Amino acid sequence: MRILSGFQPSGTLHLGNYFGAMLPNLEFQKLGESYLFIADYHALTTSPDPEALRQRVFDVALDFLACGLDVNHTVFFRQSDVPEVTELMWILNTITTVGFLERAHSYKDKIAKGFMPNAGLFTYPVLMAADILLYQSDLVPVGKDQKQHLEITRDLAIRFNERYGEVFTVPDGHIAENVAVIPGLDGQKMSKSYNNTIPLFGAPKAIRKLVMSIVTDSKGLEDVKEPETCNVAKLYKLIASGEQYNELCRNYRAGNYGYGHAKQALFEAIQAYFGPMQAKRDEFAKDPGEVWNILNKGAERARNTAAATMEKVRRAVGLR
Ligand code: ADP
Ligand code: TRP
Repeated sequence: MRILSGFQPSGTLHLGNYFGAMLPNLEFQKLGESYLFIADYHALTTSPDPEALRQRVFDVALDFLACGLDVNHTVFFRQSDVPEVTELMWILNTITTVGFLERAHSYKDKIAKGFMPNAGLFTYPVLMAADILLYQSDLVPVGKDQKQHLEITRDLAIRFNERYGEVFTVPDGHIAENVAVIPGLDGQKMSKSYNNTIPLFGAPKAIRKLVMSIVTDSKGLEDVKEPETCNVAKLYKLIASGEQYNELCRNYRAGNYGYGHAKQALFEAIQAYFGPMQAKRDEFAKDPGEVWNILNKGAERARNTAAATMEKVRRAVGLR
């Protein structure tokens, strides 16, 4: 089984990204032959600054390497290093109706947020279909927000196969319906757009300051507290061990345990969890050449698969 996923290089990773997307994805990658790429062509639709794009690609590569991606197992690469994907996108464009794309939520959402309505944004789902079909992926684990894109991909694969013969594997999506929404500092969904994030990596002092600013109710030190409704406890549950979380719950229910104590425990748990990854990240950051090398090697492997698919596609549509 081939499992594929793509990540947009969209800036500093936070706990929501890690527990909501990255960790489930890294777990999935272990289940079969795996492909994981950094979607820089997609990022161009909304992020035109060249230096920022290069930097973000590099940062996301560091993040994945630090968080335990196994480059011997996973084909890890940069999307634009396999430009065949744009050729496939062109061919898929010719079987995609405009009305079909007009129904896509992501385009409307981006326009509503004030992004320039460029054609790349409009055809974003066709490029994503090309990403998936080029590597004949069986399974694509994605977040809920990507569900419609997967449906579009399946639809295009079926349409192509019906018209030109069986060329593409029709992929199954694995939609993370029941991945919990990770709360941010203010209790809303943790998100860059709400400015309420705790980054995975950064100076301990800065992270501690953020943890100390998590919003809680106004119960005093001696009051009994409820872990189920507390943002600090919810984050602690994700990061600490089961035993540590149970201890926090006992402390909450016993009283004489303040939110300051809980926040300190959360900060320490974050350090214990992400500290070793931070060290690994720092090591990779010292050797940028090695990071690009890893991506280049991944791209070489990916291109072999891409070339085989494209040969079939070109023949099927009459370009050979
Ligand atoms: P942001 O909301 O910060 O812009 P993105 O939209 O770039 O984050 O999210 C990238 C991935 O991380 C998506 O798959 C999304 O589902 C996941 N994700 C982001 N924030 C959270 C969260 N608070 N809880 C769970 N998953 C999240
Ligand atoms: N659109 C995805 C996102 O924003 C990223 C992505 C691009 C992707 N191509 C993909 C995900 C192919 C899975 C498969 O998160």
